[in-house]
Amino acid sequence: MHIHRLEKIWLMFGIAMLIAFLAVVGVGAFAMGMQPPGDHRHSVDPETVDQVAPFNQPGLRKIGENEYEATMLAFAFGYAPEKMEIPLGATVHFQITSKDVVHGFQIPGTNINMMVVPGEVNHLTYKFDKAGNFLVLCNEYCGVAHEMMMTTLIVK
Ligand code: CUA
Repeated sequence: MHIHRLEKIWLMFGIAMLIAFLAVVGVGAFAMGMQPPGDHRHSVDPETVDQVAPFNQPGLRKIGENEYEATMLAFAFGYAPEKMEIPLGATVHFQITSKDVVHGFQIPGTNINMMVVPGEVNHLTYKFDKAGNFLVLCNEYCGVAHEMMMTTLIVK
């Protein structure tokens, strides 16, 4: 069968564009690592993360003057610890990971908004200089009870 020369050129052009596009997408995804946003992170095994320190004892730990480390675990459908009291004025370094699927960790009215990914620990530091109850919400769809996934931080 005879292919018109112009058609052949367009066909080659199309294939070339497709290859170029795939290369850009592939290299872009690889270079950026497709990572969720966050300060820094390291790997954990989501299967056993609740059995090894520090995630076997989630909660608030004093690490300095007015400075605390908050170790938290997200799971379908909740957070550990269920409730956490934070002294007013404390600077809290959160470290959080997921036991199962991707969850969110958002506190409306603050700039706290993390993606919680199984296998990775996400970090965020926040200074609580306002008293009150802060509702932590999951903002990543994670299953049937996603809407009910929440916890409370009590700052006083
Ligand atoms: Cu966890 Cu939505």
